[in-house]
Amino acid sequence: MAIKKKTPGISVKIELATDNERDWAAAVMATADPWLTLGVTEEQCRSVCHDLQYIVYIAHYCDQPSGLIILHRHGLAGSPYIKSVAVAANTRSRGVGKALIGFAEDLFRPEAKHIFLCVSSFNRGAQRLYKQLGYRKVGEFEDYVVAGESEWLMHKLLK
Ligand SMILES: CC(C)(COP(=O)(O)OP(=O)(O)OC[C@H]1O[C@@H](n2cnc3c(N)ncnc32)[C@H](O)[C@@H]1OP(=O)(O)O)[C@@H](O)C(=O)NCCC(=O)NCCS
Repeated sequence: MAIKKKTPGISVKIELATDNERDWAAAVMATADPWLTLGVTEEQCRSVCHDLQYIVYIAHYCDQPSGLIILHRHGLAGSPYIKSVAVAANTRSRGVGKALIGFAEDLFRPEAKHIFLCVSSFNRGAQRLYKQLGYRKVGEFEDYVVAGESEWLMHKLLK
């Protein structure tokens, strides 16, 4: 499925990832926070990006791969789960992240009432984005990946 998602002022095309794009997505994740701070290696990112239990979409901005979102249709208590979202450093703050999350919500809305994601306690930028988009903190996993930091479980009603 290919969808042209219009966020005011930008045009982003979102499509299922090819094999090469899955490698690109792994490289983007492995060189960025939160994965650096969480100690996640490029090999582990590649393994997730190629894991068939996940659906991986790529956002193309100005015809270049610029962002990724990794989804599981029934990942949390039977509801859709956004496992990861990332935008390449040189195309951040242009609406690509919002377009990717909006795309995932539109994808699952016909079949699901709830959607979930996790965010690291130190990832204030992503927390700001999720709050803006209507996600609310509903749980906390203390010391989940790194000692002294939590993973926050966030929820949004889709309908
Ligand atoms: C979080 C992320 C996906 C957002 O993508 P994006 O394309 O930059 O975001 P958008 O342009 O759609 O939206 C911008 C919003 O993101 C939030 N934001 C995230 N990081 C930010 C930062 N470092 N500085 C300012 N705003 C940030 C703000 O809420 C901002 O809204 P505003 O412009 O109205 O203030 C991107 O910053 C990223 O890839 N970060 C690294 C990976 C990551 O943290 N992923 C989330 C894991 S849970």
